[in-house]
Amino acid sequence: MTVEEIKDLEDSAFREIGPAQNPEDLERLRVKYLGRKGALTGILRSLGGLAPEIRRIIGQEANRAKEALETALDEALRSLKDAARLAEPPATDVTLPGRRLTRGRLHPLNRIMAEVCDIFLHLGFEAVEGPEVELDWYNFEALNLPPDHPARDMQDTFYFNDQVLLRTHTSPMQIRTMEVRQPPVRIIAPGKVYRRDSDITHSPMFHQVEGLLVDKGVTFADLKGVLTAFVHQMFGPEVGVRFRPSYFPFTEPSAEVDIECVMCGGRGCRVCQATGWLEVLGSGMVHPAVFEAVGYDPETYTGFAFGLGIERIAMLKYGVDDIRLFFDNDLRFLRQF
Ligand code: PHE
Repeated sequence: MTVEEIKDLEDSAFREIGPAQNPEDLERLRVKYLGRKGALTGILRSLGGLAPEIRRIIGQEANRAKEALETALDEALRSLKDAARLAEPPATDVTLPGRRLTRGRLHPLNRIMAEVCDIFLHLGFEAVEGPEVELDWYNFEALNLPPDHPARDMQDTFYFNDQVLLRTHTSPMQIRTMEVRQPPVRIIAPGKVYRRDSDITHSPMFHQVEGLLVDKGVTFADLKGVLTAFVHQMFGPEVGVRFRPSYFPFTEPSAEVDIECVMCGGRGCRVCQATGWLEVLGSGMVHPAVFEAVGYDPETYTGFAFGLGIERIAMLKYGVDDIRLFFDNDLRFLRQF
């Protein structure tokens, strides 16, 4: 047994390992060279019969060759496995384009609601909210609408009993706020309201934003200034605004606010019924009887209030001609905003 022979054995092993195509071939080679009856194992086992110096040299060489072969076999097996894994179709194809997340959007009414509130918040108003199931006192009585008042006819609603109803407007929040606060009061009250009403411009449930400002020395000029500023921010600074005398039991004097028709620019069309103007909100100076109902002194304080319909503004702003489209939940409609 010589060092040369071991090297030759090692070389022939390497030559066989190189082209091995599968793990079984490699296992066969491992048995052939390193197994219990393997060629290299035989050499190591026969060392005992050699002279000590030769045994040391041959032993070293045989051990080195054994380690080299073990490493080579392990590596060959690993690269065969890697190649097999790469050849398989991957569980996750990282080259596929990602799955797109469809992004949601605000409902057009919520958008208009947010826009309206934003304008008044920037003017210094604070938003408050209150119940949709309301007492007769807040919805009517305290607003100067006693039980037999004819103006109640226009605001029929769902009654739970004599005293409990679905609110017909956000005006009850005027009373609820003044009951618990002292002037100056500067609030808006957004929310849902309910009426016995249903056609292409009326829905039994709709949205309003109430406004109330009370202080010493508040005049109709303040009302005009605030509401004109609102219209100009909402519809554009070039849009004409008109205050038209009206009637609400809880304001005196009362005014409806019209804007120049956004469809025809004021020339007259089907939408504005040839008048050139569109009604957008109701308003007026707070009636002294309302102040008395909440314990404010009408000789000391004055104020103005307004109420605007969100659906109305959304229809005008987006050119929607049927209010029911907002509530049908048809994505083809909703995706347009
Ligand atoms: N609450 C009235 C309505 O719904 C609107 C309004 C509010 C009018 C405040 C004047 C003052 O018709």
